[in-house]
Amino acid sequence: MPLVIAMDGPSGTGKSSASKGVARALGLRYLDTGAMYRAMTWWMLRNGVPVEDAAAVAARVDDPVIESGTDPVTPTIAVDGEDVSGPIRSREVTNAVSAVSAVPEVRARMVALQREIIGDGGIVAEGRDIGTVVVPDARLKVYLTASEEVRAARRARDLAADPGASVAVVRSEQARRDRLDSTRKASPLTRADDAHEIDSTELTLDEVIEAIVRLAKELQ
Ligand code: DC
Repeated sequence: MPLVIAMDGPSGTGKSSASKGVARALGLRYLDTGAMYRAMTWWMLRNGVPVEDAAAVAARVDDPVIESGTDPVTPTIAVDGEDVSGPIRSREVTNAVSAVSAVPEVRARMVALQREIIGDGGIVAEGRDIGTVVVPDARLKVYLTASEEVRAARRARDLAADPGASVAVVRSEQARRDRLDSTRKASPLTRADDAHEIDSTELTLDEVIEAIVRLAKELQ
């Protein structure tokens, strides 16, 4: 089976940049599953669905058409034909996404869609449950971590244009999101037993990419 690289871990570990870099280096496609949960959350907010009400979210789960492009150079995400790459990164969506992604009906639909896109492989897929649920037989699984301080600083840098996003605020919002993502009942964030754990705290992005490319080449 062509290679599937499952990249999991909490937010702010540099997972997206590393996943895109690995996909480019190895000529693979790229799938950002977090963007899909964000797109679903954006749609719920836009349509006035109370995101803390799991039954209300579940009732609308099949309504949005979510399309993910898999080019690692220009990944795209669209909802009902509208490009939402920008809006899904807002703090409003970021703070609502854990509630929406904890709803089992949301996960069931997203996982089915993700498996369809992953198809026969040749892809780097990143998220929270790729190695544990979406593709448990992936040839290579990576679990990326970093210290809480470094993760909050990286996230705050990403959000530099937002005046409300100080490192302290980002750190507490991130801690809340990680707690929700790791303690939810439906496929919580956990490291697969057979995942290679890489701590990126002291590594540059290029070093992380190199480490993963090396692991992938060892398989061949
Ligand atoms: O990677 P990210 O920060 O863009 O992900 C956004 C949210 O989506 C994250 O808080 C948890 C959820 N998520 C998930 O539950 N399962 C995935 N495979 C990917 C993301």
